[in-house]
Amino acid sequence: MNLGLLLLILLKVSQDALGVQVYEGEESVLLRFEVDVSVSVRSTVVWSREDLKQEKVHVRQASGDDYGDQNKLYTNRTSMRADALQTGDLSLNLTKPAVGDSGTYTCTVRRRGQLLNTTEVELLVKAPFPVWPWIVAGVMAPLLLLAVSVGLIISLANKAMKDRLRDQLRVVEVAEGTESVELTCTTKADLTGQIQVEWRRSVPKYMVIHIYKDNSNQPVQGYEGRIEMKNEPLTESSIGQKDLSLTLKKPRVDDGGVYICTVYKNGEIMRQKIVVLCVRETWIKTIRGSCCAKKAAAEQRAKAGRRKKEEGEATEAQTLTTEQSV
Ligand SMILES: *[C@@H]1O[C@H](CO)[C@@H](O)[C@H](O)[C@H]1NC(C)=O
Ligand SMILES: *[C@@H]1O[C@H](CO)[C@@H](O)[C@H](O)[C@H]1NC(C)=O
Ligand SMILES: *[C@@H]1O[C@H](CO)[C@@H](O)[C@H](O)[C@H]1NC(C)=O
Repeated sequence: MNLGLLLLILLKVSQDALGVQVYEGEESVLLRFEVDVSVSVRSTVVWSREDLKQEKVHVRQASGDDYGDQNKLYTNRTSMRADALQTGDLSLNLTKPAVGDSGTYTCTVRRRGQLLNTTEVELLVKAPFPVWPWIVAGVMAPLLLLAVSVGLIISLANKAMKDRLRDQLRVVEVAEGTESVELTCTTKADLTGQIQVEWRRSVPKYMVIHIYKDNSNQPVQGYEGRIEMKNEPLTESSIGQKDLSLTLKKPRVDDGGVYICTVYKNGEIMRQKIVVLCVRETWIKTIRGSCCAKKAAAEQRAKAGRRKKEEGEATEAQTLTTEQSV
């Protein structure tokens, strides 16, 4: 048996089990019943609902419709084919079905009081589709989708930013007196073209400390002999990266700060790596430092006080000058 046929059968079975289903507000609904003409001819057909006090929904006699005992719920709402008894099609047409019409409808066919045939039809009239699910589906769902996607984008962007920062930022800590420290800057980027690598120091003072340009190192005054870069830094090392790292010899406490490695390609910034360098004092210095800390602090305070006083005087002098010039 193929699947389509199976589905069709299942659908048919479930439809039969469910009876007739309509939504309130529909024009009409048909409760089907057909019998052999030999049964229907000259018979009396009664459609009824046994759950109602006044059971009769529709009565058809050989002489015509009989609304005498009809339940008032069904006034002007029921009809049968005019030739129902002649054709055997005893279906009941119910107009403007309402939720209250739901129930079991029984149709009986009698001739001179004798029951010839009968059937039951289950009718379920569902409340009209409420509006709010459509609002939910039509308005809320897209909004929700939008919110979710925006959230997702933000969190992805956030993660990307964090990843980039982690990739860009490195913190190195060494003790003073160490032979050398490496300020790492590696990249897998394509370094063909006109490449310039610039190492800058931004804290405590902004300054360029090393430039690699036109395939040669160009050390900067004040750092000669203390800074070294790899030979041919633009060629790939064994791990597939270009190593633009800087080696700082004999780092001092005042070398601590933020170092930025910037790679320019054809004059435009291509990559940037940040290395934060912390140089710890040696233990001898630390002890000496803490011994002298009070004295130093006192001196500092005194100095600051003096400076303030001087500044104050300077400001006064300036004010005087300004007033004089006015
Ligand atoms: C009622 O009619 C149906 C369809 O014509 C028929 O299959 C069934 O046997 C009848 N039932 C009785 C009790 O005569
Ligand atoms: C039923 O139809 C008749 C004739 O059209 C009308 O006079 C009567 O008011 C209707 N009754 C109801 C309950 O609609
Ligand atoms: C049921 O009655 C309504 C109103 O008279 C009519 O429009 C509709 O076509 C009828 N349905 C059937 C299946 O006869």
